[in-house]
Amino acid sequence: MTTKIIFLTGVSGSGKTTLGKALASRIHFDFIDADDFHPKENIEKMKNNIALVDEDRWPWLESINHYITSLDNPRLVLACSALKEVYRDRLAKGIPSKKIQWFHLQGPLLLIEKRLATRAGHFMHNSLLQSQFDIYEKPANGIVLEIEKPQEENIKQMIAELKKSFVGVIGMGVMGKSLARNIAAKGYSISIFNRHVAGKEVDIAVKTVNQNQELKNTLPFDDIEKFVSSLSAPKTIILMINAGAAVDEITHQLLPFLEAGDVVLDGGNSLYTDSEIREKYLSQKGVHFIGCGISGGEEGALLGPSIMPGGSFDGYLILKDLLEDIAAKNQAGNTCCSYIGKGGSGHFVKMVHNGIEYAEMQLIADMYSHLRWDQNKAIKEVSHIFKKWCQSDPSYLMEITIDILDQKDDDGSPLLDKIRDRAQNKGTGGWTTQAACDLGTPIPSITESLYARYLSSDKNERVSLSAKYIKPPISVISDLESLRSTFLFCRIMNHVQGLEMIKHASDKYSWHIDIKGLLQTWSGGCIIRSSLLERIGEDLIDHAHILHATWIGDFINQNWQDIQKTVSILAQSHQPYAVIFASIQYFKHITQENSNANMIQAQRDYFGAHTYQRIDAEDDQFFHTQWIIK
Ligand code: 6PG
Repeated sequence: MTTKIIFLTGVSGSGKTTLGKALASRIHFDFIDADDFHPKENIEKMKNNIALVDEDRWPWLESINHYITSLDNPRLVLACSALKEVYRDRLAKGIPSKKIQWFHLQGPLLLIEKRLATRAGHFMHNSLLQSQFDIYEKPANGIVLEIEKPQEENIKQMIAELKKSFVGVIGMGVMGKSLARNIAAKGYSISIFNRHVAGKEVDIAVKTVNQNQELKNTLPFDDIEKFVSSLSAPKTIILMINAGAAVDEITHQLLPFLEAGDVVLDGGNSLYTDSEIREKYLSQKGVHFIGCGISGGEEGALLGPSIMPGGSFDGYLILKDLLEDIAAKNQAGNTCCSYIGKGGSGHFVKMVHNGIEYAEMQLIADMYSHLRWDQNKAIKEVSHIFKKWCQSDPSYLMEITIDILDQKDDDGSPLLDKIRDRAQNKGTGGWTTQAACDLGTPIPSITESLYARYLSSDKNERVSLSAKYIKPPISVISDLESLRSTFLFCRIMNHVQGLEMIKHASDKYSWHIDIKGLLQTWSGGCIIRSSLLERIGEDLIDHAHILHATWIGDFINQNWQDIQKTVSILAQSHQPYAVIFASIQYFKHITQENSNANMIQAQRDYFGAHTYQRIDAEDDQFFHTQWIIK
């Protein structure tokens, strides 16, 4: 039982003190009556049949909250009217949600009136009861208990509820298991579920519990109904399963056991449009759906990932404490988790994160190719150069690349040379490119990195064509400092394209994504975390194109000649450097005062009468010319 503070609420006369005391003595908790905290003035008012107003309640609620939060390791039952949601928030302020359980006593006015009539020596006047009923707000969280039920039955229900888990995780693959261990290590009670597939997935949840010390108090299941029943209300369920049909399948299995107010969070790499549909579908049933990007791989999931929740804001609020507790902290100690926006925005930004990841990886691979094959450097030298670059511009992907370069196979040779040169992908890069086309936002660096993976995968064709087109050996030497500037320039262009894409989508879908907040979320735990990303975040100008940032302008203007020279040297290589060239072309396009699009418009009008706009006419005027056909 991780719950340490049990709030029992209800109007005056609902029996919360009697029930609270009985529960406290049964589970060996302390009991506190909120009425004992009322100042003299409040008691006087109530005795004189004057209803309390909010101004009377704030200091009272605050003193209770202060008392609870000042206790060392409290284990207590608190009976308090807490009639409105804001009162309950004030009571629970600063107390982690994992430590709290709410119970609410409810019953008919007439019955409570009757009970109050028999009560002696209480300062609350019976006629104030109606005013309490008038302001009572249905609680968003917790378990409702009927006052008509025998006390023993209510106590049994409360004890059963207290034994339930705060959260459930479905899917004990690499990511699900690591996330579950992370959650348990942060002190949350947790249930885990893995499906049963005869001969293939048998007792996976039980084995996961047995093999991981953090999960020793975790409840394991392969029966979905029992799993859901083990969760306390509102039920919160985190899906860590493969994106696509599996998410819909499990949602349909869960639905019969879910109630309005429960929360389903999909932490896989789902397509954002699927998350939009799922959120709409589940919201019709009152179930909150959160499409949540989670980045950081196995290690991140275990030690602190970057978390990008989108969709139901109410659902997010229920899981906020947990998500922030398990998320990475950046170097400044800030939490790498922030609500992204409604609908599919959480999975959208994760998708673009992966697009940026693809291009960052390809850019590093291109730098490696150039140094190793154009400049004929030993793998050790490349590692040495990258270490220097990484000291001034640290990034997770560069750090792991250095480890990869240093890794030896059993025979002592570089392991990298033993790995087949065919890149795979799970689809998020392709989705990013498709979504960019739908939005009309150019992301050439990301798209080229995707194409580089596609092209690499056709090894047989590459081998046969390389025999047909013989390329003479060539030495392509660039200056190392200029190469480093070119690398940084291309990385900037990659991030600019991804972030501009997110800004466009945010405007189009009214997601109101806070780019600065997103960059903080990406500053720790995720695969693309880097000093560059944090620097971009520091110098953002609201709504303006990211290239308007002062430091980016200064850096490019100071290094442009060197970058141009390096790129012209790289153009002589037999190696394909498409992401580098795409980054340069993007920059040239976006900073070009006069483009040749007038020719495109003229051609369109010539063959299709598509019309064009003139520089000497208003913006809303369109012209068509009868072109002289020779
Ligand atoms: C992350 C990663 C993670 C996964 C990619 C791999 O942020 O933790 O991006 O989501 O490694 O999905 O994608 P590909 O298989 O397409 O390279």
